[in-house]
Amino acid sequence: MRGINGQPIVDMSRFLDREAFQKLEPEIIAGLAETKLDAFEGIWIDIENHPNSTNPQDWKTIPDGLKDFLKDPDITDDSKAKQWHNNLDNVTSRNKLIRFFKSKYGVYDPLRVFYLTTNENFGGTTMPDAKLPELAEKFPSVMAWANSLIGTMFDSIFQVCIFYVEHDGRTVEHYDLAPDSDLRLPLDKVHDDIDQLPHFIHLRSDTSRPFYVFDADNKDKYFANSWACWFNAKEWHSAVRHIAPAWSLRVDGYFTDAMKKELNL
Ligand SMILES: [Fe+2]
Repeated sequence: MRGINGQPIVDMSRFLDREAFQKLEPEIIAGLAETKLDAFEGIWIDIENHPNSTNPQDWKTIPDGLKDFLKDPDITDDSKAKQWHNNLDNVTSRNKLIRFFKSKYGVYDPLRVFYLTTNENFGGTTMPDAKLPELAEKFPSVMAWANSLIGTMFDSIFQVCIFYVEHDGRTVEHYDLAPDSDLRLPLDKVHDDIDQLPHFIHLRSDTSRPFYVFDADNKDKYFANSWACWFNAKEWHSAVRHIAPAWSLRVDGYFTDAMKKELNL
């Protein structure tokens, strides 16, 4: 495992104010409830399972559903699903198509991603109809808190997002991919180099849903024990099924030189 300097997970909590972070929780919980249907449904990740992967072999991902859809004789040019597929750059159409995949082909993906950015202010890019500015408006304290990290932890921030997993949900064991235009996620515009080590922090107010980085070659799982961590997202990672819904906040940017020094980068 490459990890980060050989470490599977880096505890970032010592650089952050936990009390300030905890104060964001009421806004996050209310915002998730209010904007749930505006968020990206599913992560649309297509990945070959590692031979040692602990993903169930019959797991149907969104790309598996797309394959079924493209050869489904029931789908005609007049089908609603066909129209949604023709309009994938629109988040609402994309989400409807994925819900259709779930019901028709048994796709399983309990994740939702709330992209509070990316927008020009963060030096990134956005999708035309991603409703991102509206989402950010529902989370003003989160955005202010993320911005407050500029100058100390980050030189710049280009993405703030919240991952939400439905109750009793399980995340597919995966590593973050190099860009693929078909994935139609803002993330593909952010980390456009497979060899790049993305700088980010992964934050949770409730660590009861076990999150881990997986050394697939020797089957070791390294669980995050901290509310704030960083890991090499190009390593396999996932989280264990958990009865309650769970969310995590991820802030991506470029670490300052001082931060890199602290982290021995
Ligand atoms: Fe990931």
